[in-house]
Amino acid sequence: MNHAERIIVALDLDSKEAIENILVRLPDVRFVKVGMELFYSSGPDFISFLKDKGLKVFLDLKVHDIPNTAYRAINVLSKLGCDLLNLHCAGGLEMMQRAREALQKDTKLLGVTQLTSTSQEMLNQQLKIPGTVDECVLHYAQLAKEAGLHGVVCSPREVKMLKSELGVDFLTVTPGVRPAGGQLQDQKRVMTPREAILAGSDYLVIGRPIIQAEDPYGAFADILQEVEEAFDEQTIN
Ligand code: C5P
Repeated sequence: MNHAERIIVALDLDSKEAIENILVRLPDVRFVKVGMELFYSSGPDFISFLKDKGLKVFLDLKVHDIPNTAYRAINVLSKLGCDLLNLHCAGGLEMMQRAREALQKDTKLLGVTQLTSTSQEMLNQQLKIPGTVDECVLHYAQLAKEAGLHGVVCSPREVKMLKSELGVDFLTVTPGVRPAGGQLQDQKRVMTPREAILAGSDYLVIGRPIIQAEDPYGAFADILQEVEEAFDEQTIN
């Protein structure tokens, strides 16, 4: 795989025009993430627009519904030609299995374990799930694997645990990545691109450090270089 494909740029901007402008400045980007705001406002045509540009697309809609509705939703989204889709593991095994059956073409399906906004206290007190966040993440990831999903979205800090328990082929897609010395914004427990790749992360989801940079082209190039160096480091060790 071309290493540029490892970096999924989160297009968290509020208009199609803003995205067109940023994409012109990012000719080396191969993979982008479209979130709910953009999809709900710009719709399926926007996915075709990105695909026509030759980009890979992760459509981050975090589906969560009864098995039949999840099947139908994932089926429609998969037919749009999305490369990655996701759903909440909390929807249970049958929902994940049905959604997996709905995939068309080469779409891969990821499970969302626990959002990084879920704290230990929230897990135990509000959601009434006992145990630690890590235990819950591992349990949900095991369920996702049992359902035949291709991997999970997780914190880079969970990658080592998940890879050692579920195998290296089970994909880990990680937000919460910040270049060394970069601003954290609202991300709290971050890793650098190098650390995330060395931990075993397959894809890094990075938004603001690239799309809000004064020089997006340079910001992406620096991250790509760090990713390439991390792969070289892995090969040497
Ligand atoms: O700008 P930044 O690099 O923080 O963007 C990260 C992207 O990944 C955002 O689109 C955010 O919604 C998403 N994400 C996240 N943490 C999760 C799941 C998704 O930051 N646990």
